This record gives sequence, structure tokens and C-alpha cells, in this order.
Amino acid sequence: MMPDYQIDQWDGPRCIAHADSIAAFLDKVLPDDWSNFAEKLSGRRNLNAHVALDGQGQLLGLKLGYERHRGVFNSWIGGVAEEAGGQGLAAALMTAQHTWAKEAGFRGLETATRQPNRAMAILNLKAGYLISGLDVIAGEPTKILFYKSL
Ligand SMILES: CC(C)(COP(=O)(O)OP(=O)(O)OC[C@H]1O[C@@H](n2cnc3c(N)ncnc32)[C@H](O)[C@@H]1OP(=O)(O)O)[C@@H](O)C(=O)NCCC(=O)NCCS
Repeated sequence: MMPDYQIDQWDGPRCIAHADSIAAFLDKVLPDDWSNFAEKLSGRRNLNAHVALDGQGQLLGLKLGYERHRGVFNSWIGGVAEEAGGQGLAAALMTAQHTWAKEAGFRGLETATRQPNRAMAILNLKAGYLISGLDVIAGEPTKILFYKSL
């Protein structure tokens, strides 16, 4: 049964204020080094997140990004809690993010997905992204680069 959720949009200061809870959430869905996350967020232009919250205000899903190239929103990280997976939450967060980015005046969106992450690659294509390149660095997982014109 899908937990009830609502999708909110957080601006940069709000993302930084919630950096610890975002990092704890990411630790669960996308294990990596999320230490000093507030520092990693600070200084990002047009930092923004779409979050799915349960009735207690706990994070169930997240899409977070910032403006890396002028006029293009870089959708950097995201994930959905295991207990809320497979029920359209990632797709709903992407729709909300893309609608917001268009209304905010961005001309496009970019994102990168590690090659083994089939689920994210499929989600990106379904959301209207096209493959724009590959990032191949020796010793690191190859990344598929995506771009969507708004
Ligand atoms: C990848 C992830 C975001 C998917 O979240 P989700 O809420 O379960 O995805 P949705 O239910 O919205 O799926 C939408 C579509 O994506 C595709 N998809 C999702 N999960 C998939 C999987 N495991 N395998 C293949 N396709 C998948 C399907 O086409 C699906 O549509 P369908 O249900 O009609 O078939 C989630 O599994 C996750 O958080 N993974 C770990 C974190 C991560 O990889 N983040 C991205 C890197 S920043």
C-alpha cells in the first residue's frame, strides 16, 4: 500500500536548512559519501529540491538540483525510499521538477546517470530526456549524460 505523500518544492536556503535530513535520506537510498552535505550545497546557483513527504513530514522521495550552466537546470541527485518504490513516486517528482523548471524560465534540463542504473536511465527517457553523451573516466563508472529541452 502506497503511503500517503505530498510533494513540496524547497528553495536553496530551505535545502541547506534541511541538509542533514536530506543527507540521512540519501545515505539510505543512494549510499555514498554525503558528509558535509550543507557545504556541498552552499554556493550552488538556483539550488532547488522537490520532496515527497509522508504524513509525519518524513522524506519518502527527493529530486535535487541547481543551475550549473546558464539557463539549464542540472538535476543532480534523487531517490525514493524503498517502502515507497515502484508506485510512480520518482516519475511524479520528475514531472513536478520539470514543470517547475519550465515555469522558472529554464530552457533545458541536464542529468547524468551511472551506466548500470537501468531504472534511472529508463525513467529519464520516459520523462523526455535524450541521451546527449557519455562521461568516460578510467576507474570510474561510465555516466550516461541526458538533456531535455523545455
Ligand atoms: C530509481 C528510483 C528513483 C525509481 O523510483 P520509483 O518511485 O520506484 O520509480 P517509479 O515508480 O516512478 O517508476 C517510473 C518508471 O521508471 C521505470 N523503472 C522504475 N524502476 C525500475 C526498475 N527497477 N527497473 C526498470 N525500470 C524501472 C519504469 O519504466 C517505471 O514505470 P512503470 O512502473 O510504469 O513500469 C528508485 O528505485 C531509487 O531511488 N533508486 C536508488 C537511488 C537512485 O538510483 N537514484 C538515482 C541516481 S541520482
